Amino acid sequence: MSARRTLRIAMNGVTGRMGHRQHLVRSVLALREQGGLDLGDGTRLWPEPVLVGRSEDRLKELAGRYGLDRWTTALDTVLSDPSVDVYFDAQATSAREPALRKAIAAGKHVYCEKPVACDWGGALDLAGRAAAAGVKNGVVQDKLFLPGIRKLKRLLDGGFFGRVLSVRGEFGYWVFEGDWQPAQRPSWNYRDPDAGITADMFPHWEYVLRELFGPVRSVQAHVTTHIPHRWDESGKPYRAAADDAAYAIMELEGGVVAQLNSSWTVRVHRDELLEFQVDGTEGSAVAGLRRCRAQHRSATPKPVWDPDVPADDDFRAQWQEVPGNEAFGNAFKVQWELFLRHVVLDEPWPYDLRAGARGVRLATLARTSAREGRRMAWSAT
Ligand SMILES: NC(=O)c1ccc[n+]([C@@H]2O[C@H](COP(=O)([O-])OP(=O)(O)OC[C@H]3O[C@@H](n4cnc5c(N)ncnc54)[C@H](O)[C@@H]3O)[C@@H](O)[C@H]2O)c1
Repeated sequence: MSARRTLRIAMNGVTGRMGHRQHLVRSVLALREQGGLDLGDGTRLWPEPVLVGRSEDRLKELAGRYGLDRWTTALDTVLSDPSVDVYFDAQATSAREPALRKAIAAGKHVYCEKPVACDWGGALDLAGRAAAAGVKNGVVQDKLFLPGIRKLKRLLDGGFFGRVLSVRGEFGYWVFEGDWQPAQRPSWNYRDPDAGITADMFPHWEYVLRELFGPVRSVQAHVTTHIPHRWDESGKPYRAAADDAAYAIMELEGGVVAQLNSSWTVRVHRDELLEFQVDGTEGSAVAGLRRCRAQHRSATPKPVWDPDVPADDDFRAQWQEVPGNEAFGNAFKVQWELFLRHVVLDEPWPYDLRAGARGVRLATLARTSAREGRRMAWSAT
């Protein structure tokens, strides 16, 4: 039997959607269900969560539900506990920066949801503090570990596309206003002007584009609030101060053009809530969260524009499903495993707070572009 090495993780925001479902249940508790993380040296890493939050009742209920014995509403106390190794943050975005700053000052390794902070200065400051303190640090970049994106990356690595010309991303769905049907997202995302769709989604676009196609070198965006009035969790009307749609064109280093629509005010006529179409000289692909379909140059049909003739081509049927060829785990759990290995084995880890700050920077550039009506350059330095 292998030896067990315990790592205590203070998890803040576990009563929230992401903190609960993705990070606590599907990542940390899932790791415990599989007997811990095999470190390959005869030991298994055993994550021991300490639930942190604002509501004693809800934490107690969660702890009871999952058979956990440690929970607290006192962040300072948990951070001063020397047996706590890691601080994880999935709180509402506005609460993250001050909590991370405290955790870094207390010498904890830190891991957190995106965006790492509300503005670029704050995000860079956190990255600098973590580096100076010598603590391991990281940000969630879950989209990189999704099956659809992994298949797309495999096509890129195999040279399938030839020269990539463009990337079209469609993300979104209708988020109910909250009057006659409850909204399916928390109201702080619409109330807080710093928590709109640009701040929320552009950190994802930054790392997906960088890792797959190259870093963003310029952005031009139109950002808007299509639905100005919404109703909150208790049915009370409020003014939506945050943007709910962002339409952006980005140029990447190397010349690829990326066009991304992000919207909580769109009805889905797609196969998945997020899809990227990539067109290259040798082939094209459409990747979603799980699926990826490709069409090679040799199998590309030749449509002819003639609106007087009924369109009976089944265009979707002309694409080939890219096979999985491997078992993909939950994207958040896969990244947790890499982070934990980085913490205890010092394995390479590119998803640090500096990477997180780049995501905040792209969101900031997009919002500035929209506000000032101009194209923003992102210099390579
Ligand atoms: N990686 C992803 O795909 C992804 C998806 C959705 C959200 N997120 C990120 O995860 C974080 C949490 O989002 P969520 O959708 O789980 O939110 P949520 O509202 O469901 O949960 C927020 C959590 O933060 C706590 N909290 C602390 N201070 C708060 C405050 N001042 N106002 C509101 N809540 C506060 C809440 O108690 C709760 O536990 C956000 O930063 C968001 O950007 C990431």
